[in-house]
Amino acid sequence: MSNSEIAAQGQRYIMNTYGRYPLSFVRGQGSLLWDADGKAYLDFVGGIAVCILGHCHPDLVKVLQQQAETLWHISNLYWIEPQVKAAARLVKGSGLDKVFFCNSGAEANEAAIKLARKYFYRQGQSERNHIVTFLQSFHGRTLAAVTATGQLKYQEGFNPLPQGFHYAEYNNLQSVSSVINKQTAAILVEPVQGEGGIRPADTEFLQGLRQLCDREGILLIFDEVQCGMGRTGSLFAYQHYGVKPDIVTIAKGLGGGFPIGAMLSTDKAASGFAPGDHASTFGGNPLGTAVAEQVLTIIDDPSFLQRVESAGQDLMRKLRELNDERIVEVRGQGLMVGIEMSVEAAEIIKSCMSKGLLLVGAGSHVVRMVPPLTVSDEEIRQAVAIFSQVLQESAIA
Ligand SMILES: Cc1ncc(COP(=O)(O)O)c(C=O)c1O
Repeated sequence: MSNSEIAAQGQRYIMNTYGRYPLSFVRGQGSLLWDADGKAYLDFVGGIAVCILGHCHPDLVKVLQQQAETLWHISNLYWIEPQVKAAARLVKGSGLDKVFFCNSGAEANEAAIKLARKYFYRQGQSERNHIVTFLQSFHGRTLAAVTATGQLKYQEGFNPLPQGFHYAEYNNLQSVSSVINKQTAAILVEPVQGEGGIRPADTEFLQGLRQLCDREGILLIFDEVQCGMGRTGSLFAYQHYGVKPDIVTIAKGLGGGFPIGAMLSTDKAASGFAPGDHASTFGGNPLGTAVAEQVLTIIDDPSFLQRVESAGQDLMRKLRELNDERIVEVRGQGLMVGIEMSVEAAEIIKSCMSKGLLLVGAGSHVVRMVPPLTVSDEEIRQAVAIFSQVLQESAIA
């Protein structure tokens, strides 16, 4: 089928939750994608920061094929060897102690919120159940995750929302102090805000949150669904800050495109859960965890992570050198880059797409670049050249 035929069938059969482009991709290799009409694209969206090793990485294909021929699914009634191996890698890479596997970022955040509440419940402090999150944050679309998300537009029409969520200003410790009290169980924060516009936390902010949590006995939860898994040039973004959370959530890049999420925690926080407290039928199944273990084998390597850091710096330097007056700021960490524009991002993204470069917005005025972490220097040069050409040709002011 052609792009337009697939789009027409999609309109007919798929629920109307996404504003989709009339394009359908049918093949991918590394940082390249081909649409149903045969046109090639340079992919700086990467399935929204998911395909961290590019499309169809041969090592991931091999592991997935082998696992598919061996065992697909058995449930968590039994121990699953690939799950145990993936968990061991995550524990080693994070400095945390225990892992719960699930299927998505929202589910990982649900698990984290439930763990924080149950932790205090088990200590006889059931009234200690409030969660502090941040304005402009994004934590997912389940009811609790959308309530944690500090943006009204995602919550509208879904009342009644779960109770006990309070919002503070990002990078503002004073604002956090003003909303915490004896009922605060946890602070949930993205070390680099993603959907909210690619905003890295200040070091003093994350370190200050850690001190505040230690002082008040509050659990510190980092949502690294978007910024984790090597995206910023360290396995976990918090490792740049010298701050360790009690709980961290990941998803997106963990399976390199295979759907899987996870919540990691210290032994102390993990003591909140006992058998029967939380579960997921598919969570940690052999297919997903076999792929995740292979992803971790590749990315948890100092030279791989160093390359992400230097490629990100190269990309941001090239973007800053464009010196276009519509670029307000180029910011980010590693290969998680935001270009804040004085004009709406949507038109620029569309024009880049027509020239074969895929980009995604992060809020109305930020163009986001989250390419595969394996993107080459030449692909970075090409992407910046297309972006620059679009700015030069565009009359958007
Ligand atoms: C920081 C963050 N948390 C949570 C989520 C939700 O993840 P998922 O869409 O896998 O549920 C996202 C998705 O964009 C995210 O960026």
